[in-house]
Amino acid sequence: MREIVSICSNWNYLPDFREAFLDPAVSLAAWQGVSLPHTNIELPYNGFDEGTYQFVSCYARDLEVSARGPGRRAFLDFEGVMAACELWIDGQRLGGHEGGFTPFSFEVTDFLADGKRHRLVVRVDSTERRDFPPHGHVVDYLTYGGIYREVNLRLQDFDYISDAFARPSYRPGEAAGLEVDVAVDAASLDSGTKSESPLRLVAALRKDGREFARSDEVAAAPGLFSFAMTDLDDIEPWDIDSPVLYDLELLLMREGRTIDSLTIRVGFREARFAPEGFFLNGRAVPLIGLNRHQSWPYVGYAMPARAQRRDAEILKRELGLNIVRTSHYPQSRHFLDACDEFGLLVFEEMPGWQHIGNATWKDAAARFLEAMIRRDRNHPSICLWGVRINESTDDHQFYARTNELARRLDPTRQTGGVRFIDKSELLEDVYTYNDFIHAGGAEVLRKPGKVLPRGLRAPYLVTEHNGHMFPAKRFDNEERVAEQAHRHLSVLNAARAIPGISGAIGWCAFDYNTHKEFGSGDRICYHGVMDMFRIPKYAAFAYASQKPPSKGIVLEAASLFAKGERSSARLLPIHVYTNCDEIILYRNDLLVGRYFPERDEFPRLPHPPVIIRDLIGDQLDGSSFSPRDRKLIRSLAGKVLAEGFEGLSWLDLARFGILLLKYRMNLADAEKLVAGYALGWGSKEDRFQFVGLVDGVEAARRTYGGDAYASRLSIAADDTRLSAGAWDCTRVEVRLEDQYGNLCPYVAETVDIEVKGPGAVIGPTRVALIGGCVAYWVRTSGSAGTITTIARSARFASAEIRIQVAGSGEPVSIG
Ligand code: GAL
Repeated sequence: MREIVSICSNWNYLPDFREAFLDPAVSLAAWQGVSLPHTNIELPYNGFDEGTYQFVSCYARDLEVSARGPGRRAFLDFEGVMAACELWIDGQRLGGHEGGFTPFSFEVTDFLADGKRHRLVVRVDSTERRDFPPHGHVVDYLTYGGIYREVNLRLQDFDYISDAFARPSYRPGEAAGLEVDVAVDAASLDSGTKSESPLRLVAALRKDGREFARSDEVAAAPGLFSFAMTDLDDIEPWDIDSPVLYDLELLLMREGRTIDSLTIRVGFREARFAPEGFFLNGRAVPLIGLNRHQSWPYVGYAMPARAQRRDAEILKRELGLNIVRTSHYPQSRHFLDACDEFGLLVFEEMPGWQHIGNATWKDAAARFLEAMIRRDRNHPSICLWGVRINESTDDHQFYARTNELARRLDPTRQTGGVRFIDKSELLEDVYTYNDFIHAGGAEVLRKPGKVLPRGLRAPYLVTEHNGHMFPAKRFDNEERVAEQAHRHLSVLNAARAIPGISGAIGWCAFDYNTHKEFGSGDRICYHGVMDMFRIPKYAAFAYASQKPPSKGIVLEAASLFAKGERSSARLLPIHVYTNCDEIILYRNDLLVGRYFPERDEFPRLPHPPVIIRDLIGDQLDGSSFSPRDRKLIRSLAGKVLAEGFEGLSWLDLARFGILLLKYRMNLADAEKLVAGYALGWGSKEDRFQFVGLVDGVEAARRTYGGDAYASRLSIAADDTRLSAGAWDCTRVEVRLEDQYGNLCPYVAETVDIEVKGPGAVIGPTRVALIGGCVAYWVRTSGSAGTITTIARSARFASAEIRIQVAGSGEPVSIG
């Protein structure tokens, strides 16, 4: 039977490599003790030289296998090492691997003796190697170095299951089925211990203890089992709203004895891109998504399962997306597992960025594509393979090869290949196109007919929009941050309005560190709808507000309600992102009026934003103004607050003049009217209260203040329970809030972070509140207990939170 032993702890690390390190007698005492995932160097948040992590380093670990027993094989499974590595055991070279995004294994059976201590040494080359993807030219992301994913020691019998590919079939109204191919590495066939008795494979499909099907097979060919489970009854489909998963349990048997077992998760669904759109289980699903980079502040890619899973949770459950693109490389299996569980579709892409290299480079690209598909083809969430280097030019031979490879390895899924060139050659099934046409004007998305090669009708998906067209820092002027949100919503609306577009995947989910050729000069691309700390910008609320209210109420105004924040002190319009049906606005407890979603501008959105264009509302009701004139006054006053007096047209001015005459007002009276209702100058307090109604019932309430002042530090953790096993972590957010609980984005304070108990802070312990808010990750140190983390500032009372760490594990080195 297989036995998997994590070897993520007890590594020793040096940011250097010398041949002398290969000697197993070398003392590791002076090396840094580290645990995996590990980054080769902790980076600052921004403003660093990206050369900092591009060096060769060395990881060493002593290994002891106490009771492997005779006739068993041993493997080292590496899930991800950036960018290339070479391995030795006791000074003997095992081999090497190139490529930082895909897993690899080495058989070490002949290198390990029971009960003996062995020395494993890994030389890690984290330079930007030009001989394989993604490098060779410029790249708009960083490939942080180190053994940044997990490593396991796997013990097996001589014959073991080396690969299993399950192909569930599902069509509404038809019986479900499952075709399975299982490959067995049958070392015994050619070893001295060859056994004559045949191998059998027993498979069972289960869910919650119930068995749905079972089969018992003999090998179809040496080392290969192929079988089908047909006419499966009562199978519930995997869907974005109910991601039902089944376990396919595989037992490899010989002479009645189980010699290996492997369980893979499967989901039954039909996912299909057609020229008319995307269809999941027979129904059209407009795709709404974002691109994700797998990076975090300080540690780059080196984050454990919980942080990977949390990103999927944010995208699906908080932002309400139904698809993510793993731009531009295969991402952590933990992230994909969570996508399966949460019902988030995935477009997974091979590593690269615009550049295509020489023949050696292309061979490597094809290897990486193959490794990606082999690793991930059982994930029901994956609905499309990206088989082109993101935004590269046409290359018939190369892309004919990648398409053929993908279709051979996985005939169940369609291929896509992301391009920014119109009318480029379509060798894939889906024309996946980055559409950056929207620059804030009337043109929002291009029609597929204008982009596709002449005369071609094909499935079509927008795989990027916005991004560099409108970077927005979370702490930018509110007009800019609100405009970013507005542009994303305009694209989502257009994607639904234009026939033939399956959906739109925006650029991007989270801000990310990048090379000097990109971003804002501080090595950050501020293209995310959330920042690098996963703190939302207004655009995140714009996405979240498209969720049905049953998935969480959203009510967020894209404004500080400060009189002078915007250019020319213009207060209006105020966009409110909400999935409520209507909003009632009160000012200092007095009813202003009711405001409704802006269906005219966003007819296709499930929940258009409410746009507050005037602050008079219904307050003139009962006044001497006629109902028609009240409307006119509202609109003129709103225009003045949005565009200034210069925004009034001749017609507006003429109407204004007539109003003055009609009601015998002079200019001062008129100004008083606008100022009284809108500016509230001189009033003691200036509270704007929003009440959101769903089906006529109050569902949310928010208060904003033109009179806001910074009043307290708040602290919250994503998780208050962590596990002591392998290293674990959670995100802690510290916010500077006003008296209404809203963020104070421009109040600059530093915060000192302390962690007491079995844990540590990732990154610096003295941080600035960036835009009034910062997050940090607290990691475990291997023992159980209570972690207390405290944020202190000079001006406000400290904020603290406790996190329980349960379970037991190996001691984890904090490095
Ligand atoms: C695209 C590219 C992305 C990112 C984005 C910025 O061209 O594919 O990786 O650089 O631009 O908007």
